[in-house]
Amino acid sequence: MANPDGGEADFASLANHVIDQASETDDDSAVGVDSEAVSTISLPNFDYVTENGRTYHIHDRGICILPNDPREMKRLDDMHKIWVSTLDGEISLCRESDTRRQRILDLGTGNGVWAIAYADAYPTAQVIGVDITPTQDTWVPPNVQFEIDDMEKEWTWKRKFDFVFGRDLMGSVQDWAALLRCILDNLNPGGWVEIQDYGYPHHEGTESPPTKLSEWLQEMVRASRALRQPIDMIEQLADLMEKEGFTEIRCVKKRVPLDNSSKNESLNQIGKSAAALFEAHLEGISMIRFKHGLGYTIKEVLDYLSALRTELKNNHIPAYFEVHVIYGRKPVQGLVSKEPL
Ligand SMILES: C[S@@+](CC[C@H](N)C(=O)[O-])C[C@H]1O[C@@H](n2cnc3c(N)ncnc32)[C@H](O)[C@@H]1O
Repeated sequence: MANPDGGEADFASLANHVIDQASETDDDSAVGVDSEAVSTISLPNFDYVTENGRTYHIHDRGICILPNDPREMKRLDDMHKIWVSTLDGEISLCRESDTRRQRILDLGTGNGVWAIAYADAYPTAQVIGVDITPTQDTWVPPNVQFEIDDMEKEWTWKRKFDFVFGRDLMGSVQDWAALLRCILDNLNPGGWVEIQDYGYPHHEGTESPPTKLSEWLQEMVRASRALRQPIDMIEQLADLMEKEGFTEIRCVKKRVPLDNSSKNESLNQIGKSAAALFEAHLEGISMIRFKHGLGYTIKEVLDYLSALRTELKNNHIPAYFEVHVIYGRKPVQGLVSKEPL
């Protein structure tokens, strides 16, 4: 286990906990290796590295860019609430045939908060949440199963899906075209994919002179490209979906101000929660990218973020982020339509 800062003990117990769960899969445990997959499935890899007290999963392509510790799981729970509020109470905007869907796949499920919400909403659907790191909840509805695997490697599920979902995956995917191709191959004809993601916070206007926030965003984009896990792909996803063969593609975009400047009270509330969450988790979001992608030292990252926090506190330039929902359909054979319904 590569752990130069000695945080191994905490995560050894988490790894053991999950291995215990994996050995229980025959007893309907919610976490395990894919019970349906053929024997080529990769085995769980529980290596972690600690950077400044936060732990990160390591896989064979390198270090995951976001932490996988309890603090990050809390962030995912809080972000889930922000997502659902922003989408007016919906967990998914692609509602076509939703009550008829049987097999659902949640890519990069994290702690499984979306998969669990979907399974609760549609008790007759079978929901699989897949993630590279074992951080999923254990108390889950009976129609949810979690599996540990790399979504960018060959998919080994034997049965196809009716709906594939992925949220907050920018920066976790190296090759979106290949992933979309894989999704298309693994959907039933007429099945749907929905990707939800957000653009990172930035200021209104020309951003001249540059602010710490605009510089931070540029550094994040640069670092993510250096690590070959781009964060700036969201605007290209609809085109990529079309190129890969999806039809009936729709895009929904919402702007959330990171202050209370909106006339819409519910947007103000969302913006305030999102701003607080963003500030609290700046280090978790930035550390690996800045250190491993751009060569900053831990101290340089911390100093940089401290200056950014000061600016965010004192500066009154309006900032906002955008929420994107993009969905599309695998053509039903003989009924290919490029037009939205
Ligand atoms: C920002 S979290 C989003 C979690 C969840 N989708 C949500 O919205 O709450 C990104 C997740 O993708 C997972 N991930 C990153 N690379 C992955 C890969 N190659 N295969 C599967 N999961 C991956 C991470 O472990 C992390 O849990």
